[in-house]
Amino acid sequence: MLLASRLLRLQLFRFVIILVLVLSYVENGNAGLTSTFVRTQWPAADIPLDNEVFAIPKGYNAPQQVHITQGDYDGKAVIISWVTPDEPGSNTVKYGTSENSYDFSAEGTITNYTFYKYKSGYIHHCLVDGLEYDSKYYYKIGEGDSSRVFWFQTPPEIDPDASYTFGIIGDLGQTYNSLSTLEHYMKSGGQSVLFAGDLSYADRYQYDDVGIRWDSWGRFIEQSAAYQPWIWSAGNHEIEYMPDMEEVLPFKSFLHRFATPHTASKSTNPLWYAIRRASAHIIVLSSYSPFVKYTPQWTWLREELKRVNREKTPWLIVVMHVPIYNSNAAHYMEGESMRAVFESWFVRSKVDFIFAGHVHAYERSYRISNIHYNVTTGDRYPVPDKSAPVYLTVGDGGNQEGLVGRFFDPQPDYSAFREASYGHSTLEIRNRTHAFYQWNRNDDGKPETTDSVIFHNQYW
Ligand SMILES: [Fe+2]
Repeated sequence: MLLASRLLRLQLFRFVIILVLVLSYVENGNAGLTSTFVRTQWPAADIPLDNEVFAIPKGYNAPQQVHITQGDYDGKAVIISWVTPDEPGSNTVKYGTSENSYDFSAEGTITNYTFYKYKSGYIHHCLVDGLEYDSKYYYKIGEGDSSRVFWFQTPPEIDPDASYTFGIIGDLGQTYNSLSTLEHYMKSGGQSVLFAGDLSYADRYQYDDVGIRWDSWGRFIEQSAAYQPWIWSAGNHEIEYMPDMEEVLPFKSFLHRFATPHTASKSTNPLWYAIRRASAHIIVLSSYSPFVKYTPQWTWLREELKRVNREKTPWLIVVMHVPIYNSNAAHYMEGESMRAVFESWFVRSKVDFIFAGHVHAYERSYRISNIHYNVTTGDRYPVPDKSAPVYLTVGDGGNQEGLVGRFFDPQPDYSAFREASYGHSTLEIRNRTHAFYQWNRNDDGKPETTDSVIFHNQYW
């Protein structure tokens, strides 16, 4: 009798356990996926300065740290930037549409700066405009034996059905993981990089090493950034507010080294601006500049959103550093202040994608909004919203701070996919209605797509 009662209790216990498991599965049936993939990775340490990826080009005063970005509103111009270490040297870009024949030339500007006791090289920025769409240009900088030649491809004309592939990279740094991300990106077919902030992580160093690590990073990214435009947004590692070293001017290194075409979109500050490229209208915001009501960034964004014409550029993309929706304990809610100010505009404007970095992991959201949030009534949960953007966190470039895997459990309803690995994304815009998006985990050389989605345009 005693045995029978024990067996009955055991059966009952099993039944309750199974019931709990089934119910919890049903509850999470529509929830997103938290990847359990764990891979070995290189230590999150910067590559030593004497490594070949930071090699200084041969020749006296040879141009180094060459990078380009879009130079106007519509993609018929580039800004070419480089550094000469010893003296200002030539400030001319010679360029043309066939190799070894440079029919045109443009003159740049030269700047330099100090950081603690470090003195930068001579930083050149040269606007090359009046280019033809869909053309390959060769360009030559430097003098005599020290001159160097690069090339780039201009985008197609602004057209709602123009196809174009953007890469998205954030929080890159200069470790072996960063190198893996960069090498994978360069094989992806991406034609231009949307960079979600936190470039070199040079601010993790002290004194003269801050400037030295900006220089090494400039040489590191040249293999891609000299050949295709990287569209820059600034992150917290660009602020470099270092009173101990008497460096208190925010974004000093970044603003000297990286130009943006901000005046072309009527912005008064290089940290926020917009460009149009192929079939996309791209808005770059600064998470670390004032953005509350009536500030310059707020006023500019209000006006820029009015200039968006989805009949010409159907794809509306926002790039910033701090994610607005992210379910990782790292940097949790740091984007809440910007959400409170701008989310209703993003929803009303039917923004397609908001790319951010900052959190060193990958995450994609469903289309959700929290614009009904009311601190007085307590109405506080994000809800599905077909007009809302998809939020993508791509802060997984591979910098020396390493990954963050502290995802909230259970995964919130708004989170579609998340994984703490290094990688980058690509967004292949096919036409006015469809785009193929994928996040690619670094994987030692084999192509591996981990999260892929076909997105429909929010306007068409
Ligand atoms: Fe950051």
